[in-house]
Amino acid sequence: MDRITEYISTHKDRFIEELITLLQIPSISADSAFTEDTIHTAKAVEQALRTAGCDTVELCETNGYPIVYGEKMVDPELPTVLVYGHYDVQPPDPLDLWDSPPFEPVVKATDSHPEGAIYARGSSDDKGQMYMHVKAFEFMVSTDQLPCNVKFMIEGEEEVGSVNLATYVAANKEKLKNDVILISDTGMIGNTHPSITTGLRGLSYVEVEVTGPNRDLHSGLYGGAVANPINILSKMIASLHDADNHITIPGFYEKVEELSDLERAEMAKAPFDLNAYQDALDIKSVYGEKGYTTNERNSIRPTLDVNGIWGGYTGEGAKTVIASKAFAKISMRLVPNQDWEEITELFTSHFTDIAPKGVDVKVTPHHGGQGYVTPIDTIAYKAASKAYETTFGKTPIPQRSGGSIPIVSLFEEELGSKTILMGFGLDSDAIHSPNEHFGLWNYLKGIETIPYFYKYFTEMRVDR
Ligand code: BES
Ligand code: MN
Ligand code: MN
Repeated sequence: MDRITEYISTHKDRFIEELITLLQIPSISADSAFTEDTIHTAKAVEQALRTAGCDTVELCETNGYPIVYGEKMVDPELPTVLVYGHYDVQPPDPLDLWDSPPFEPVVKATDSHPEGAIYARGSSDDKGQMYMHVKAFEFMVSTDQLPCNVKFMIEGEEEVGSVNLATYVAANKEKLKNDVILISDTGMIGNTHPSITTGLRGLSYVEVEVTGPNRDLHSGLYGGAVANPINILSKMIASLHDADNHITIPGFYEKVEELSDLERAEMAKAPFDLNAYQDALDIKSVYGEKGYTTNERNSIRPTLDVNGIWGGYTGEGAKTVIASKAFAKISMRLVPNQDWEEITELFTSHFTDIAPKGVDVKVTPHHGGQGYVTPIDTIAYKAASKAYETTFGKTPIPQRSGGSIPIVSLFEEELGSKTILMGFGLDSDAIHSPNEHFGLWNYLKGIETIPYFYKYFTEMRVDR
């Protein structure tokens, strides 16, 4: 990949400007107030793929937001890389915690990004990381070095569960045929510690509703004599973990794959500084399941977390009331072999079983997906590893991540393809949080590294 560093230094201001323009459009898939903006973003991505050198580009309509598809086929005999990413972003709230408005990108230097970082919703997850692929592709096409075929599939509903993408993939198997799927929508350990994500957790997301009396009651007249849905919901939630922070839902751990001591010892070799971790979060101690390290707790172990809880009076001042209803949103992160639909059922029946007389409980599943583990003895992994070695001067560490990209296991089921996860973000990028940012160094390093993946993957495939 001759001249990649030269190409980047010549064009980097434009690369940054183009990303900033994309980040200005609030493509919040969860909020229908942003429908037009989200569609506008799809069109901007479509145009970017065309300009970068795709021969065919289309906006594929779905029952939700369009999927942007683009391809450049150089030779049917050569391997095909399918790039997946998403142009939608998480809602930016709470807005008052942002130092600058989420859709008015600014470049600022920080401790973890002394070369500067772009602050904006979607900068790291996933517009910035997706756009690295568009610019790496532009470089390969414009310098006549594209070694294989490329297909891009960029969706606009990842943050809301990729339901329409699943339908699209099932209906377009031939069109999407590929030799490997390449995704940058995860992170790495640090800028001096490259890593390749080898696992993603599954997810089951549910909403629960506890109903007591048929109306809100005076808490003096009725308090103590009827079940208070908020008290009950809190108790029920608290009972979902035992004193060792194990989850108490019967059967929950039944299919969990236990790692061997050897695998755990390998994992423990990844650089990790507990004090730095605690300091970055302003916490005095970590917390979690007994018997596991922090890195194990957030990657190879399943979890259950309340994501939101509401009910009763939360306005200004005080109101003495027993609410008729209480609600919570609960997510469970799952590990390989746990089936998300089965876990959703286990949760539902357990949560209904533990409800005391005097309240009614309703559980509504939202969405979910299976976890994923990538093997490291594949050509794709070796090619990715060599690409990082070339541009970072270090062999990347394989690392399982705690996050979820449910569509990845579906790609394997429907298309028979393995995915390689080359993430260039950092945990400190604050994805889904206020002040999300993406290091300019990371953005440009991604653009530099990706073409080497294409090169090594093609060479290794063709030599086989
Ligand atoms: N890009 C993230 C997932 C991610 C981030 C994986 C960092 C590993 C490291 C993705 O956009 C995301 O946020 N996924 C959701 C699940 C989805 C179904 C809403 C998640 O993990 O909460
Ligand atoms: Mn993402
Ligand atoms: Mn996300």
